[in-house]
Amino acid sequence: MTNQFKTSIKLIALFVFAVGFFSCSENLVETRQNFDKDWKFQLGDDSLAFQPDYNDQNWRALNLPHDWSIEGEFSKDNPANPEGGALPTGIAWYRKTFKLDSESKAENYYIDFDGVMRNSEVWINGHYLGKRPFGYISFRYDLTPYLNAKGEENVLAVKVDNSAQPASRWYTGSGIYRHVWLVPEQAVHVAHWGTFVTTPEINTESAQVKLDLKVRNTTSSAQPIQVKTTIFDAEGVELVKSTSQIEAIDSISALSQLVEVPNPKLWSVDSPTRYHAITEIYWQDELVDRYETPFGIRSFEFTPDRGFFLNGEHLKIYGVNQHHDLGALGAAVNTRAMERQLEILKEMGCNAIRMAHNPPAPELLDLCDEMGFLVINESFDEWKKTKAKKGYHLYWDEWHGRDLQDMVLRDRNHPSIIAWSIGNEIPEQFDTTGIAITRELAAIVKELDATRPVTSALTENDPEKNNIYKSGALDLLSFNYKHKDYLDFPEKYPGECMLASENMSALSTRGHYDMPSDSVRVWPPAYNQPFDGNDDYTASSYDNAIAYWGATHEDTWAVIKNNEFIPGMFIWSGFDYIGEPLPYPYPARSSYLGIIDLCGFPKDVYYMYQSEWTDKTMLHLFPHWNWEEGQLVDLWAYSNNADELELFVNGVSQGRKSIPKDQFHVMWRVPFSPGRIKAVSYKDGEEVMEKEIHTAGKPSQIELTADRNTISADGSDLSFITVKVLDENGNLVPDADNLINFEVTGNGFNAGVDNGYQASLEPFKANYRKAFNGKCLLIVQATEEVGEIAVSASGEGLGMTNIEIKTTN
Ligand code: GAL
Repeated sequence: MTNQFKTSIKLIALFVFAVGFFSCSENLVETRQNFDKDWKFQLGDDSLAFQPDYNDQNWRALNLPHDWSIEGEFSKDNPANPEGGALPTGIAWYRKTFKLDSESKAENYYIDFDGVMRNSEVWINGHYLGKRPFGYISFRYDLTPYLNAKGEENVLAVKVDNSAQPASRWYTGSGIYRHVWLVPEQAVHVAHWGTFVTTPEINTESAQVKLDLKVRNTTSSAQPIQVKTTIFDAEGVELVKSTSQIEAIDSISALSQLVEVPNPKLWSVDSPTRYHAITEIYWQDELVDRYETPFGIRSFEFTPDRGFFLNGEHLKIYGVNQHHDLGALGAAVNTRAMERQLEILKEMGCNAIRMAHNPPAPELLDLCDEMGFLVINESFDEWKKTKAKKGYHLYWDEWHGRDLQDMVLRDRNHPSIIAWSIGNEIPEQFDTTGIAITRELAAIVKELDATRPVTSALTENDPEKNNIYKSGALDLLSFNYKHKDYLDFPEKYPGECMLASENMSALSTRGHYDMPSDSVRVWPPAYNQPFDGNDDYTASSYDNAIAYWGATHEDTWAVIKNNEFIPGMFIWSGFDYIGEPLPYPYPARSSYLGIIDLCGFPKDVYYMYQSEWTDKTMLHLFPHWNWEEGQLVDLWAYSNNADELELFVNGVSQGRKSIPKDQFHVMWRVPFSPGRIKAVSYKDGEEVMEKEIHTAGKPSQIELTADRNTISADGSDLSFITVKVLDENGNLVPDADNLINFEVTGNGFNAGVDNGYQASLEPFKANYRKAFNGKCLLIVQATEEVGEIAVSASGEGLGMTNIEIKTTN
């Protein structure tokens, strides 16, 4: 669901209000139709496949969203390189044969693509509609002139060319990986992305809500129309309305409506209240269009000396950077998978996402609005100068203006968005051409939205040397890494506002620990230098491994936390992502930089943030307790709402330790002897919480835990099933790597498997997976039939464990 569209399942109740209100007129409104189903797909090129009568009978039938790369096999020879995920790319075609509803009274039909990776070209009934090189942009074509009569067959053909590689510094996926919509309209209707809601004035009694509207008239003469906009609150209660009469000229007409919303409930990260503007167009006495714009009422401000304020209240930004892949699901958009990522992040205390480094799926922004995340929406990782050999710079001259405009037009109603970033670590920082380009891009954004700051993520901290800064066109200066340099910022950039847009780049593999834990491995130590990594391509999870431009979580957080002028930070990265497996070569093929692994299993440092960013009473003790007899083991604990911690080894106290300010963890170094360890936290001498870990025996059973045991029978909902290898007493076996075989039957199917190991070459689409450090993941997807999904997992010496997932309407 995106904000600009007329239909929202959740808002059906609202429409009933609206329909009732204007019931005197005939209702010709048709809602946009999801166009994801029943496509034909073929990997490989065929120059004739655009023709309507082309025989696609033997092509594979599938539903969108679809990413063909994620279905492929890893190889170091794949042209996307390990940096791009070492998966296949290439050229492919999609075709869809469809008929327009013969009952429909629509006069215009548009096709909306939320995103195609990349270089898509589209034909309808053999007519060429156009090309969009940028894989992250949403776009529309007008099908109207080329459609056959209602009730007769039409053929939509899409060629996707992701063959020129390497095109990206991370995994992109390939194909029609976001949703597609068919939009039927009357001759007069709200234009594409045709509303812009702003709130020029907000106080406790009322908020001004201004709706700027663009109306499209496809007749050949001016038409008198009436426009009614009604504002509803989150419960569907009608608040205010505004009615205007205008003469819609025969293309695009603009008008503005202003209303006052009484006692506004402000959108915030803790209380993300949204309102809905329903705009209705009446023409020739008929209701011809109804367009829904969800929006929020909120104000925010970056200040040079006191950081960030939301609705007048100080708020530290606890952010993460996220790439768009969804682990084993690849780039193929799935709303539940994105929602789960945000749930896991929210639980950690995260309140902001930087969309690295491209416009996201519209559903992700809707989720950020609904769940209360601040967003930095970013357009580009590359301008005119090369970062990836076949990257966006190839299309820059022709497309950057259009792509940037389209990002802002599509997304500017989202209350979650607090800044537009026009680029990430752009090489033009170091070149005077950066001045003119920055000014041009900032002007494009400002023309469409003057309510949010324009920023760009910079690496050059010297104001004299940074041409993007020198342009004078940025409202907010974002810096990546070098957190110690932030301290000089107020002097170097007097009066300017800053933000830490990328931090840490600390390395870790879930469940892997290199000791001693109090010395930091810098891998590699400098550009192009060799390093002694681990033979099994792992990195330590004690917050003691970093990239040479990075820093540990604790060092960075201490600076961000203790300096009020820094509004907050964005960890690189929230989740591990496919591609960019630095510091290792192939077979490493996914990143080490997440604080959550590719499966969605938190790594240990996740709990440091939870202890700092939430009030939740928690205690996290790690690592496991399976070592060599006598080996000195470093034990760490993160805790909250406590001032002392005590460790017991096999029942013997190792003494209490106070929790020092800004150290964030407590450590003990103790010799291993099998048995159990226990950490106890205290506040003012009173026990708060305890955590115990036992030495595990041999793998002997499988535990299956579904994140949700009942899911929707809607064809896309997911249950994420955590698979743990346990000993006979139910302890997690911390190094178990048993092969687990899955069977999924009934009203669902296996959508993917993973174990979070960055160098695993097992496929993501398979009915088996080896456990990694005791765990793996099975993702089950519902069909559209209500019923049950039966899941079984088995392994040699582990027996079989079953779980049942219900699917409901
Ligand atoms: C940054 C870059 C990110 C990612 C990260 C890895 O410099 O902006 O995209 O590559 O480094 O450490």
